[in-house]
Amino acid sequence: MAKLAPSILSADFTRLGRDIKAVEEAGADRLHFDVADGRFAHNITFGIPVIKGVRKLTGLEFEAHLMIESPRNFIEVFAEAGADIITVHLESERFDLGCLKLIKSQEKKAALALSPQTPISKAFPFLGDVSMVLVMSVEPGFGGQKFMPESLGKVSELANYAIKNGLELEIEIDGGINLVNARAALDAGAGVLVAGSAVFAGGIRTTKRNMIEFKKIMEGRGA
Ligand code: DX5
Ligand code: ZN
Repeated sequence: MAKLAPSILSADFTRLGRDIKAVEEAGADRLHFDVADGRFAHNITFGIPVIKGVRKLTGLEFEAHLMIESPRNFIEVFAEAGADIITVHLESERFDLGCLKLIKSQEKKAALALSPQTPISKAFPFLGDVSMVLVMSVEPGFGGQKFMPESLGKVSELANYAIKNGLELEIEIDGGINLVNARAALDAGAGVLVAGSAVFAGGIRTTKRNMIEFKKIMEGRGA
């Protein structure tokens, strides 16, 4: 079944542990950590101490989505902090196959992210070395942006390519996913939905309700 990965970027940072427990209890499959360094994307979010801190709270799978330049310099520290999946951007400075190999050498899952303007075919040469491709459906950097529907075409192109070539690959879509467009993302071939503001914005009661509604959609019961 498809997976749901709440992005903690939109959680309440004064009650982060509570928010994480709430999504875990409601059936989150994975936690998504948006790490931005103010260079790759025009925002600075959070990093290693946050991942390390919340690692003690939960056994959920952690994905570090690195929106940073020179990700290679930080792969070991994110692995040590507790990330299970390390996602690097194809557009980042000095990205190459070596980055993916370094992630795998740390016994972590390697994932490749593509910003909206990057054609999906650019990922094809790397697919043998990744567990997952993240298709961004907003510009990297901020939660709460508007979904770019053209990203669905990239998801289905990748899904078709993976089937044709017998590749075992997770396809994740990230940015602007909500209760209205989630079904379309799944239908296009996404196996993992990242959702930040559509899960966390609105307080803890709303978060719990949002999770229930998302789970219904993932299970094919919802809108
Ligand atoms: C954008 C991030 C996304 C984003 C998701 O830079 O990669 O993960 O925070 O948040 P929403 O769901 O609010 O777009
Ligand atoms: Zn992200």
